[in-house]
Amino acid sequence: MTNIAPHGGTLIQRLVPDHLQAEWIRKAEALPQIRLEKRSISDLDLIGVGAFSPLQGFMNPADYHSVVESMRLADGTVWSIPITLPVDAAVSKQLKIGESAALVGKEDGQIYGVIDVESIYEVDHEKEAIHVYKTDEIAHPGVAKLYSYSNIYVGGPVHVLKRPQPDRFQEYYFDPAQTRHLFKERGWKTVVGFQTRNPVHRAHEYIQKCAMETVDALFLNPLVGETKSDDVPADVRMRSYKALLAGYYPQDRVFLGVFPAAMRYAGPREAIFHAMVRKNYGCTHFIVGRDHAGVGDYYGTYEAQEIFSNFTPEELGITPMFFEHSFFCQKCGNMASSKTCPHGKEDHLHLSGTKVREMLRNGICPPPQFSRPEVAEILIEGMKEQVTSRS
Ligand code: ADX
Repeated sequence: MTNIAPHGGTLIQRLVPDHLQAEWIRKAEALPQIRLEKRSISDLDLIGVGAFSPLQGFMNPADYHSVVESMRLADGTVWSIPITLPVDAAVSKQLKIGESAALVGKEDGQIYGVIDVESIYEVDHEKEAIHVYKTDEIAHPGVAKLYSYSNIYVGGPVHVLKRPQPDRFQEYYFDPAQTRHLFKERGWKTVVGFQTRNPVHRAHEYIQKCAMETVDALFLNPLVGETKSDDVPADVRMRSYKALLAGYYPQDRVFLGVFPAAMRYAGPREAIFHAMVRKNYGCTHFIVGRDHAGVGDYYGTYEAQEIFSNFTPEELGITPMFFEHSFFCQKCGNMASSKTCPHGKEDHLHLSGTKVREMLRNGICPPPQFSRPEVAEILIEGMKEQVTSRS
C-alpha cells in the first residue's frame, strides 16, 4: 500500500544532513544575514520538511505573481498563498543574485538556514492583499501582518540548518515523512485531515465524526503557529484536544499531530493551501466546514468550499469534504445541519464566540450540547492562567 502522492509528485527535503551541518554553519557565518520574523522561521521549516511541497524555497517573482493572480505556481501547479521572504531595503542592498545569504532568527540570532538568492524584487502589497485576502483593510489580521513586513522579497531555494524547538508538546510534532509512515503502518488507506485554530467544540466533533464514518481515520492537525492574540493559546488547546480524544474518540482511528504554521486568515485561499499541505502529510481527504480560516465578515459562509470548484479533482489530488454549518437542535435532540434538520433557528443552540468567551472567563461551562465539559473545564483553567500571567 502506498500513500497518496505529495503535491507536485515528490516530497521535498531541504534539511542539511547532520554530518554536513558543521561545515554549512561555518560557511553560513561568513554570509550576509537576513533576519527572520517568526512566520518566516516557520515557513522555512515547513519548506524544509516538505510540508509545502513542491516548494523548494521562498517564491521567485514568476511563482509569486502567478500565485497572487491565478492561484497557481508558474508551472500551473495549484498553490493559493504566496510563501515569501520579506527583507528590509538596507539588507536587500547587501545581497547579490547568484550568491547565498544566512537566514537568522530575529529574536535569537541563531542561524536557521541558508538561501541561494535567485531574485530580489519589490511587490505591491495592496495588490497582494486584494487578491489573497480579498480586502486591503488593515483591520484584517492577515492584511495587517502583510503590511507590517517589507515589500521587498527575496526568492530562491533554501537549506535548513536548524529546526525551531517547540517548548511544549514535542511529542505531537511530526514531519510529513513521519505521518506518511505512521498512517501506512496503521494500515489506513483513507485519512481525513482536520485543520483548526480553536478548541474542538461539538460542531467540530460532529463534522469530524461524520467524516470518520466514511474514511479509515482522522488526522486532528491543529495549527499551533502564529495566531492573532484573541485566539485560544495553543498549549491550552492541546490539553483540550487530548482530553477530548481520550474520552470520546476510538484510539485506533485518530491521530493527533500539530501543524506548526502561521495562520493567515485568508479564508477561501487558505482552505486550498491547508488542503494541499495536508496532502503532503499523507491525508487523502480534508474537511472544510463553514467559513474555513475566516475572520470577521470578510468571507461568505461557504466561499472556502466554493473556491475548490476552480480546480479539477486530479489537480487537487486530495478530496475535500464539505460540511454545512452545524449546531445542536433541541427538537432533534442531536447535532445537525440544515441538511438534516427540519426545525427553525429558534430550536437551534446558538452561542456567539464572544458569549462563550465571557462564560468561560466567569468560570461557567457552556452547555454540554455546545462543548464537552472536559473541554470547557480546560478552557476555564486556561483563561485563569492567562489572567494570572498578565497580572
Ligand atoms: S479555522 O480558522 O481553523 O478554519 P476553526 O478552528 O473554527 O477555524 O474551524 C475548523 C474547521 O471546522 C473548519 O473547516 C471550519 O470550517 C469548520 N467549522 C467550524 N465551526 C463549524 C460549524 N459550526 N459547522 C460546520 N463547520 C464548522
